[in-house]
Amino acid sequence: MIKLIVGIQWGDEGKGRASHFESKNAKIVVRATGGNNAGHTVVANGKKYKMHLLPSSIIRKNVNCIIAPGVVIDPEVLISEIEEMEKAGITITKDRFHISERAHVILPHHKKLDGLYEKLKAKKIGTTKRGIGPCYAEKCNRTGIRMFDLCNTSTLKKKIEEDLLLANTMFKQYGEELVNPEEEYELCIKCAEKLVPYICDTGSILIQADEKNENIVVEGAQALYLDLDHGDYPYVTSSNCNASGTASGAGIGPTKVDEVIGVMKAYCSRVGEGPFTTEQDNEIGDKIRELGYEYGTTTGRPRRCGWLDLVMVKNACFVCGLTSLCVNHIDTIGKLEKIKVCIGYEYKGNNIEYVPIDREYCKPIYKEFEGWETNETMTEYEKLPENAKKYIKFIEEYTKVKVQYIGIGADEKQTIVR
Ligand code: IMO
Ligand code: MG
Repeated sequence: MIKLIVGIQWGDEGKGRASHFESKNAKIVVRATGGNNAGHTVVANGKKYKMHLLPSSIIRKNVNCIIAPGVVIDPEVLISEIEEMEKAGITITKDRFHISERAHVILPHHKKLDGLYEKLKAKKIGTTKRGIGPCYAEKCNRTGIRMFDLCNTSTLKKKIEEDLLLANTMFKQYGEELVNPEEEYELCIKCAEKLVPYICDTGSILIQADEKNENIVVEGAQALYLDLDHGDYPYVTSSNCNASGTASGAGIGPTKVDEVIGVMKAYCSRVGEGPFTTEQDNEIGDKIRELGYEYGTTTGRPRRCGWLDLVMVKNACFVCGLTSLCVNHIDTIGKLEKIKVCIGYEYKGNNIEYVPIDREYCKPIYKEFEGWETNETMTEYEKLPENAKKYIKFIEEYTKVKVQYIGIGADEKQTIVR
């Protein structure tokens, strides 16, 4: 059984939590796209773990974890994450952790370029400045460095020199200090010492697991509306983090996938710039931020908050081929007395129910709901307050996709499965 877990808003929906929950019965969990722009939090056994590159299930000792070809890896960040985990008593051996030799390497010049592009742009994207975009750009340019190159250091120096040509021309042009290929080479050599044992052909591991009918969970990063093709370009990340892109990044063909779980919050949040039709840049947004603790796991930035946009969710159901929904923060949004949900847009004189390319011209059409109060005893759907059930039922009616998982608290135990 292969399950994909994908974000269907603007990220931070609780994909790490969902993936960790699903991995209870899995043999392998895969991170497939993005890099350390992701920030995935899991609260398990009363402990909080924050992951950026490692799949969330690394904390389960009996689960094997893979970082797949579609990911871009900052080797220093990965090493420090491994070390953090080891300090927390989680051993990461090469028998249970594998890095694809095809995954690309984020180098210091990518981070420097990320900052420079943002500085030069009239309209900022508000990237995480982790070098994600420039690394993917060089991958497309076919000058990138891959994890495989860390295992083959005789050709590495030449490749770094070539890769740096474009970046250094850019730095020169804008009066920035040039990056010395020797320094990036030394950094790679230093990181290779720690990482090489984990680097391998992750595709064969997945094929073998599939042949044995083992359960595989793919932990998506980012979300549909940050997707390079289907999101709010240019206010997006630089990978295809929709469901197909997630499967592709993992190295899994579409017909091999059994379930696609779309993870969403009962409201919306966004970090960085870009259109946000239901944004509440007022005391309602402040209240949601406070109640949901909406601050970035990666950058600590306060997240922009607003009402749930079901037009986006419904579109995601088709584009990502969702088989079920996981709605998190039902506890959080219920605390408001009145709750609004966007069920359509007023757009250039018409009422529409799709997401147009120039969505900054959309005005939300809302339906209103009454709040509710949840508590720890509500371990089953039937035990939820009527108003919460009405809210969930409406999501299902509107999207025609079943809400299978409901998050009513940070701890993974506070998940209702239907
Ligand atoms: P998870 O996996 C929320 C956003 C950034 C910025 C845009 C581009 O935790 O849901 P980038 O550094 O990727 O070039 O930035 O994308 N962004 C995310 N927002 N959650 C994430 O990941 C994000 N990854 C990138 O804030 O607006
Ligand atoms: Mg996050």
